[in-house]
Amino acid sequence: MLDSAICPHLRTQRSQPKSTPASYEPAYPSYSARFDPSISEVAAVLIGAIASQPNSRLEHDALESVDHFLGQGSPQPHYRLLCNSEDPTGRETRAWKAYWPCKEDYLSWSSSSGFAAWWTESKRETEEHGWLLEALYPTMDRLESVFSNEAAREGAALMCQGMSAAIEEHGYWGSARDRFPIAQTDTVPGEKVCPVKGMLGGAKEANGTASRRVVVPGRQNLCVIHSGQDWSAMEGKERELYLGTLHPTLQAGMLFLSNDKYRSLDGDGSASERVGCFECRFMEHLDPERVEPSLSKSFGLCYFDDLASLERWSREHKTHLNIFNGFFKYAAETQGQGKLSLWHEIAVLDRSQQYFEYVNCPPGTGMLASVQKPIKD
Ligand code: HEM
Repeated sequence: MLDSAICPHLRTQRSQPKSTPASYEPAYPSYSARFDPSISEVAAVLIGAIASQPNSRLEHDALESVDHFLGQGSPQPHYRLLCNSEDPTGRETRAWKAYWPCKEDYLSWSSSSGFAAWWTESKRETEEHGWLLEALYPTMDRLESVFSNEAAREGAALMCQGMSAAIEEHGYWGSARDRFPIAQTDTVPGEKVCPVKGMLGGAKEANGTASRRVVVPGRQNLCVIHSGQDWSAMEGKERELYLGTLHPTLQAGMLFLSNDKYRSLDGDGSASERVGCFECRFMEHLDPERVEPSLSKSFGLCYFDDLASLERWSREHKTHLNIFNGFFKYAAETQGQGKLSLWHEIAVLDRSQQYFEYVNCPPGTGMLASVQKPIKD
């Protein structure tokens, strides 16, 4: 008997139909995180730095101050990981991704550790590199997850009470939407990407400080996906197979999405070139001691204008279809015994569940792409 991906306490009478095919049985098992009913939201916060020049890396100790604050104050994050990515212009972004069980805990840590006071100092605006703070506080009805391995825990699932049994809602297009509690009764439409002219001027300066510090307003039903891969258990031929075939296909898909913001938006009919992705970072987990990517884990972190745009890209675009088909080839070659662990978590956020602040960042960094014309140097 298959389980539903939706936690029992979040199930309700549907007004929106599911897309599950009749008499459906998935070809392979997948699992969803189960959260205690007392958890009503989580806080997932990215605090990082971005190199100011194209084709440049951050200094080894660029995040030293953030490292320090993360060791102070309370409550401490439930979990944190160090990661980095390179944007299409070759700039490195390096960041801590930290999780708390609620927004209030994150804000308590932020003030008690001294981070909030440090972050708002004007000195941040004159440093060698840019700073970014991207905080998401999805309520549990606005979060879904799927894991290929029931023992794996990543993302918000690190705060879950356990995993479901094998779920019904996966392996068909539309299954991500079917896993969302809120989508039982809501179509969660977003604010669509619109021509650049209409996008400018939405940002406001933070705390009256210089314009190098920008707070980007939240967008209703902004869709954020963390889509993770763990190949740390692979050895020999299987590792070569993954790194030589599926991984490069994934890199190509992530590069396509990272470039979406640079595609034409002007009102000449070319807006259709865009798939609705403001930002995509293909991030590797870093070993915090050595600040090196030796952990064999990665995740795509993408901000889409809404869930429908993410669904369309995954269902129709060749870059995800190549990944998708590559996965089934990998599964055939490893005779279904492969050690690749996959997971993803998608949040569809209310406007009030987002906070984006950028200090001295290149135009178009992160959600700045929703309010500034991005420039590809
Ligand atoms: C769905 C493969 C990376 C977005 C799927 C499915 C597979 C797959 C097999 C169907 C899964 C199921 O429901 O059981 C992969 C592999 C990846 C990868 C092997 C990397 C090695 C990504 C990335 C993103 C993404 C990086 C987005 C940034 C999605 C979405 C769905 C999906 C949104 C659900 C579509 C829907 O419900 O209609 N992927 N994927 N995938 N994937 Fe990927």
